[in-house]
Amino acid sequence: MGRFNIVGKAVNAYIGRYQERLGIARSMRLAKFYNGIRYGSTQRRAIDAYQNRLDKLLLANDPDFSGKPRNILKDGWTIDRSGDFPFIEETLAEADRLIGDRGGVDRRGTPLAQTDYLFHLNDVPDLFNYPDLFKFSTSSEIIATVSEYMGMIPVFSQTRPKGIRVFESTNRFNEQTEFSGSQLYHLDLHDSPLVYAILLVHDIAEENGPWNFLPASVSEKAVRALNYQAKGEPYRVTDQRMYEVIDPAERIAFTGKRGDVLFLDSSRCFHYGSRNAILPGYRVMYAFTSHCRGDFTRMLYRLEYPNRSEDSELRKMVLGNID
Ligand SMILES: [Fe+2]
Repeated sequence: MGRFNIVGKAVNAYIGRYQERLGIARSMRLAKFYNGIRYGSTQRRAIDAYQNRLDKLLLANDPDFSGKPRNILKDGWTIDRSGDFPFIEETLAEADRLIGDRGGVDRRGTPLAQTDYLFHLNDVPDLFNYPDLFKFSTSSEIIATVSEYMGMIPVFSQTRPKGIRVFESTNRFNEQTEFSGSQLYHLDLHDSPLVYAILLVHDIAEENGPWNFLPASVSEKAVRALNYQAKGEPYRVTDQRMYEVIDPAERIAFTGKRGDVLFLDSSRCFHYGSRNAILPGYRVMYAFTSHCRGDFTRMLYRLEYPNRSEDSELRKMVLGNID
């Protein structure tokens, strides 16, 4: 175990440090190859379950499920503004409770601060105390949409990004004057496909620092024009560079009301968020990946999600509690 960790640390430090020099696309391919060997059998079971047993798994998880997902990702994304999802009220109420407990606090410099303008309100172990955050995201309606897109039963991200996060975007403590980090366009590099289901907890308008993205086909055009993810190319793309190669009118801002849901492949759709959040913006982000990730972080650790004996087989698979 000790040696395993030393190798894992060395590989992750090397990739983390030299990824731009190696080329992001190339290091992701390398990781996919390695993880394909290491976790290939788990992934094959996730694909086999999708191809041969999906209907049964979805129904066992939710006897009221209609049989087909209502939402299908097109061009890498889709938005549902119906507010009509199983358990959405329970999950929103749980998010409210967490925001009430932990929102509005200066978290700069703590492990829950992603940046000075973007705070996570929970870590993964905290999910044991806020269990209803899972309810919406493990419903058959959500899993069916994500599975259909990925061609397998997905798993909550087992390392980075953390699979379930309640986010607070806020400019209240931000002293930076220029956009940086996740406020700039990028494609996520932890895995591809990487599907986010993003649930708005409060209404989100421009002053709450909404998520913004480009559809997959537009992003693909930008990847080619910018030589993005090639050797030596920067991970973050400024607006100026982006809008030299694509029409700014292609940008979609995920503003909306409490209960609105965006499904999006963040490895194929350029995105940014949390700009100028004059008023705090709150959303839950659920991150689904494959088992054969595009990075080497599983060499280091694996996040544990709550494991209850009464969970359905599907839910156990999605939580990574069953191969
Ligand atoms: Fe991202």
